[in-house]
Amino acid sequence: MKPPIRVAVTGAAGQISYSLLPRIASGAMFGPDQQVILQLIEVPFEKAMKALEGVAMELDDCAFPLLHSMVLTDDARVGFKDANWCLLVGAKPRGPGMERADLLKDNGKIFTSQGAIIDEVSAENARVAVVGNPANTNCMIAASKARRLTPDRFTAMVRLDQNRAQTMLAKKAGVATTDVSDIFIFGNHSPTMFPAFGHAKINGKAATGVINDSAWLEGAFCESVGKRGAAIIAARGASSAASAANALVDHVRDLSTPGAIHSIAVKSEGLYGFDPEVWAGMPVKTLASGEYEVITGVPLDDFAKSKIAATNKELVDERAMVAEMLG
Ligand code: NAD
Ligand code: LMR
Repeated sequence: MKPPIRVAVTGAAGQISYSLLPRIASGAMFGPDQQVILQLIEVPFEKAMKALEGVAMELDDCAFPLLHSMVLTDDARVGFKDANWCLLVGAKPRGPGMERADLLKDNGKIFTSQGAIIDEVSAENARVAVVGNPANTNCMIAASKARRLTPDRFTAMVRLDQNRAQTMLAKKAGVATTDVSDIFIFGNHSPTMFPAFGHAKINGKAATGVINDSAWLEGAFCESVGKRGAAIIAARGASSAASAANALVDHVRDLSTPGAIHSIAVKSEGLYGFDPEVWAGMPVKTLASGEYEVITGVPLDDFAKSKIAATNKELVDERAMVAEMLG
């Protein structure tokens, strides 16, 4: 058994965390020989802290062998102290008829203070994964507050989009989800995101050839992936939670798995034509060192380039909306 790592989770009494925390404590995120100390952060209101106590009671009642201990707090300085991973879930979800960017004014400020505190008190080389929406821009805000941690330590989640796209391609082709690979998400976690079907494979063959329906790929497929979050809100009356938690497990696990190829949102540094300052989804490979590198040179046709230009524009516009929160 490895010595325990500290995993800070914000919004720990919320919907996503209710599905997420048992997965972390059971070993799904960090493996079967990795104990975890869960540092659970909520807002300083009695109702939230009481609900968090209930969540912790349930985690205790699971008797997870890998759950070393828990810290329950409404103080971010305590919650992020020495954390190896900071999972930033706590933020308002959108309701019907809203876009995720409508949350920026309310949610953006959460990430200004959390970014600064994480930078001050977390472990050396701590990693941050942002889920709270709009995730890409919130991640940019948090990273802009860091003086010690470098931008590559801050990633935002587009894995739910990757998983959605993978299942949609599998259903269309009548194959198992495991037969689909190399489906990458470019850009924002929003309806402008681009699921790059041109590079996807089904049983090792080009998905475009297997599916052979470019009108569907360029139309309904891209639209359905982009609008899946809204479809879930319309159906459930609440935003995705179990699938979001599952995607975060995948995001973090794959960032800890050498050789894994997956999509995360990172500081673009100008790759694939994105503005260098925005956090954009792109494919990465996890390295044996534990770092990751962006996979460059994925071929993009004119359709793909136009989709990337549109999602980049939205990210640049979001950046302008929060200009006063940066730095
Ligand atoms: P929720 O309302 O059920 O839970 C959010 C929790 O965060 C609440 O308990 C709230 O008290 C807490 N919180 C708010 N501000 C906080 C702060 N400053 N510090 C600590 N805790 C804080 O919402 P949810 O369904 O769990 O969703 C959380 C966020 O995740 C939303 O912004 C939602 O839109 C987003 N989301 C993102 C994805 C994605 O793919 N990136 C997917 C699903 C949901
Ligand atoms: C999702 O994609 O399901 C989440 O980002 C929640 C939302 O607001 O759509």
